[in-house]
This record gives sequence, C-alpha cells and structure tokens, in this order.
Amino acid sequence: MRDDAATQTRPVNLILLGPPGAGKGTQARMLEEGFGLIQLSTGDLLRGAVAAGTEAGLAAKAVMDRGDLVSDEIVLAVLKERLAQPDVAAGIILDGFPRTAGQAAALDDLMAERGQQIDAVISLAVEDEAMVARVAGRYTCASCGEGYHDQFKQPAVAGVCDKCGGTQMKRRPDDNAETVRTRLNAYHADTAPLIDYYAARGTLTEIDAMSDIGEVRAGMAAIVGKLTSA
Ligand code: AP5
Ligand code: MG
Repeated sequence: MRDDAATQTRPVNLILLGPPGAGKGTQARMLEEGFGLIQLSTGDLLRGAVAAGTEAGLAAKAVMDRGDLVSDEIVLAVLKERLAQPDVAAGIILDGFPRTAGQAAALDDLMAERGQQIDAVISLAVEDEAMVARVAGRYTCASCGEGYHDQFKQPAVAGVCDKCGGTQMKRRPDDNAETVRTRLNAYHADTAPLIDYYAARGTLTEIDAMSDIGEVRAGMAAIVGKLTSA
C-alpha cells in the first residue's frame, strides 16, 4: 500500500457504505495508511464521546448499546467538530456516515459549504448471516485501535498487537449476536436506500466484501488509486 501513496497527487473524499461487519473500519484504516487519507468513523467519534462523558456521549450510549441509530442531530454535531480540525484537508474516508437520508442531505450541504465534493461512494456488498460471526469475533488493540478477529485476522503473536506491541485487547459492548441483528435491521431500513441515492449520481462503486481482507483491500486500492492520481 505504501507504493500507492507515492502516486497520490490530490486529496479525495470517500464514503464507505456497508452493514455492521462489512469491513468499513478495516478497509478505512488500510486506505488511511496507503493513501494518507483521514478515517472519520462516526461510530468511533461517538464511542469517544461516550468515554469522555460529554452530553452527546451520555445521550448516545444507551442507543448504541441497543444497536439503534443515534439521532442525526448528535451525529452531525460530533462529525462537524471533527471536520473543523485541519488534518482533514488531506482527504477523508467517511466510515459509517451518512446512515440516513437526512444525514446524506446534511453532508451535501457540508461539502458545498467547504467547496468540496464526495469523489466516490464505495458500497461493501456482504451477506447478513456472515456479519454476525464477523462482528461477534472482533476485538481491537486498546492502545492503537488496530482491529483483529478470533478467526479471520489474528495477530502474529497471540495477544500482542502487530502494529504497536500493545497487549491490552478490548471488545465493543454492542458486539453480540442480538445487537448485531438490530444493527443489521437499522442498516437495511435506513442506510441501504442510500445505495440508490448515490448510484443515481454516478458516484457509487460496489465491491464484493465477502472475499478475504487482502482481496477487498486490493479492490479498494485500485478504485482509490485511480481517483488520487486522476
Ligand atoms: P459503527 O461503529 O459504525 O458500527 P457498524 O456500522 O455497526 O459497523 P462495524 O464497526 O461493526 O463494522 P465494520 O464495517 O467497521 O467492520 P470491521 O472492519 O470492524 O457504529 C456503531 C453504532 O454507533 C451504531 O450502531 C449506531 O448506534 C451509532 N452510529 C455510528 N454512526 C452513526 C450514524 N452515522 N448515524 C447514527 N448512528 C450512528 O470488521 C468486522 C470484523 O470482521 C473485524 O474483526 C475484521 O477483522 C473482520 N473482517 C473485516 N473484513 C473481513 C473480510 N473481508 N473477511 C473476513 N473478516 C473480515
Ligand atoms: Mg467499524
């Protein structure tokens, strides 16, 4: 992926669309490394707000633990705060945003205000049943956030992060089979319609995200590489 970075000539703004477990976070982190883009995960921003005990975090926690969608108002507030930081000028990967028609319309306005555009929307196509196993087996490094999986992506040395050497791993409170099913339902009801919304604009590319992580990564790198060198 480092070679791809050498060819980058302009920042691009991407959206990764996909249900829980599709690999949005896994792929966003790889694109971040390979292309110097900034991952903006509204899930991570909300979990940060919960951990910090902010008003937004307090309001979001119970909703997230149930697997329902947090209100557009709260999500937009945390996203706008993050977008005010200068590093986003490098180009962004929106991971888990937008998730509703209201959020998509608000993003259009935000981009227009910034004199920018979304260059590509990548939809990660997966099968629901496989997502339950993916999410239930997931854990991350508590120090650097690198993601792992009991079955699909283990660190080279058990319990030791490949990236930073950290030895504390953690699991998300919403990563259980029951909550994943609620999250999948929310995806199909509110987020999947955005596939047509972006297809109608000609910005949508679908990628088969049922193949292994490396293959998905290669497909992503091909799409983003074309954009950054265009
Ligand atoms: P969020 O944190 O965004 O969770 P999510 O959308 O449910 O998605 P996940 O993070 O579970 O999955 P992922 O696609 O990132 O998969 P990953 O790469 O980790 O949101 C959490 C909650 O916050 C929501 O439920 C909601 O309450 C709230 N929220 C957030 N944004 C919101 C918004 N915009 N509006 C309203 N509410 C919002 O991969 C999963 C596992 O599978 C990993 O272990 C990985 O190693 C493995 N894996 C990845 N790819 C593959 C592969 N190709 N093959 C095999 N294994 C793989
Ligand atoms: Mg994620």
